[in-house]
Amino acid sequence: MQVPHAQREKILELLEHEGGVTEDSVRKVSQQTGVPEADIWGAGMFYTLIDRPGKRVRVCDGLTCQMFGADGIAEKIKSEGRECERVSCLGQCDLAPATLDEEMELVTYSEVQTSISPASDQLALNLAGPVDMSYRALAKAREMGSEAVIEQVKVAGLQGRGGAGFPAHFKWTSVNSQAEKERYVICNADEAEPGTFKDRETILRQAHQVLEGLAIAAVAVGTQSIWLYIRGEYTNEYRALRKAVDEALAGPLADFEIEIVKGHGAYICGEETAMLESMEGRRGMPRLKPPYPTESGFRSKPSLIHNVETIACVPSIVTHGGEWFKGLGRTEAGSKLYCISGHVGKPGVYELPLGVSLDELVEAAGGYVGNPIAFSPGGASSGFLPIEKRSLPLDYKSLAEAGSMMGSAGVVVINDTIDMALAAKWQLEFFERESCGQCAPCRIGTRYLRRQTDKLIQLGNADALEHLDDVAWEMEEGSICGLGMVAAKPLESAKKYFPEAFE
Ligand SMILES: Cc1cc2nc3c(=O)[nH]c(=O)nc-3n(C[C@H](O)[C@H](O)[C@H](O)COP(=O)(O)O)c2cc1C
Ligand code: SF4
Repeated sequence: MQVPHAQREKILELLEHEGGVTEDSVRKVSQQTGVPEADIWGAGMFYTLIDRPGKRVRVCDGLTCQMFGADGIAEKIKSEGRECERVSCLGQCDLAPATLDEEMELVTYSEVQTSISPASDQLALNLAGPVDMSYRALAKAREMGSEAVIEQVKVAGLQGRGGAGFPAHFKWTSVNSQAEKERYVICNADEAEPGTFKDRETILRQAHQVLEGLAIAAVAVGTQSIWLYIRGEYTNEYRALRKAVDEALAGPLADFEIEIVKGHGAYICGEETAMLESMEGRRGMPRLKPPYPTESGFRSKPSLIHNVETIACVPSIVTHGGEWFKGLGRTEAGSKLYCISGHVGKPGVYELPLGVSLDELVEAAGGYVGNPIAFSPGGASSGFLPIEKRSLPLDYKSLAEAGSMMGSAGVVVINDTIDMALAAKWQLEFFERESCGQCAPCRIGTRYLRRQTDKLIQLGNADALEHLDDVAWEMEEGSICGLGMVAAKPLESAKKYFPEAFE
């Protein structure tokens, strides 16, 4: 018997509500939804917050938290007799080292507060600016009509801020050109790339800009159905989003349907097709593409998926015009939210012209601390660059040409107190833990490379990485999604630029 999709979509939330995967909870959820028990087991066990429920402290294992003593924090918590679990990046790198307590509330051990750029009218997002709930840009978009709005997004040169930098207007046009009229606009707020916390600040400070951007996109692609997928560990951010959605539905967005879906602890669900699987109540495993979500996305219908930052740029593009937005950038279009953490004076989120150099970003962020040797420009997926590349424009094209990537613009600065072989190992551990496991090169390759790096670090076995190039090639060529394709990058780049750390 076919289970209606609305029933299936509920199972993960119901399981979490029931306290996770147990025989009783699975039976109960099966009775409530009609989904077979085996399916519910299979889906639920994929997600850490459902498979390993229960009250415990979650200590962040992300690069910056490791650099700032996460191991010591975990030991301290255990010595207090509290249960403790090491988890992938919690998106609090500016406040490292970070933990979530037994109630999933944030606890940080940082001595500094996060910083953001001062308010300015010459910024597209202007996180420190006043909250504008007028929804004037939406009214203007309705007057302009779909084609004119999409044209301005095109003129703006808006590139997706979720990682790939794909021109936004192509996706809007593609959704608009589908024969199927049931369509969805979806906001990807699953932010979990180590080093990245810009979507967090955008939701906390300017959630209405995100909602207005989504509504404009919905008008442009002919739907009233808006969905937001937010990572399960973002407790405060969920509250901020819920409040903003309730305010909007009670007024300016009353004619839209807006749903918030909470993630359940799986980094891979940030990959857009894994996110769709998760929204549909399945294991978050990326789909083969094509078809792309613009043709067949949520519930197999055309779906426009954007990152929080991308969509939050849209109201100012409509208000001021595409040319204005484009002119805010230096080497590429627009202003950009850069996250910066690690060895800098004032870690935080800085909105700067797209294409500033690391030196300029660090100057805004209170200067370097200690003797910098390396930086990771765009999250774990971007690997490492030596500090000598500090004057490169931090943009999509320049970083790709340098063998790295802009990714999520989660910049981590590393000084000479850190062993680069260890830094590479921390990133490998992340990919090993977060691989969804469906492709053999990714599943086996991430584990193999982490183990070999362990051998090198612990036993001084210099031959441990002799097959690195072959394994990295297999992973890049044989993986379905970006995770497996880039997972060897931190190790490859650390070995290339810091060979002495591997001798
Ligand atoms: C492993 C992996 C993880 C990803 N995680 C995120 C994420 O957390 N947030 C996000 O917006 N995009 C993420 N992406 C990119 C999305 O698949 C997708 O390209 C993006 O949401 C599209 O929005 P944009 O066009 O606004 O960038 C990830 C991609 C991969 C391969
Ligand atoms: S590359 Fe890795 S994470 Fe991506 S689909 Fe394959 S196994 Fe899953």
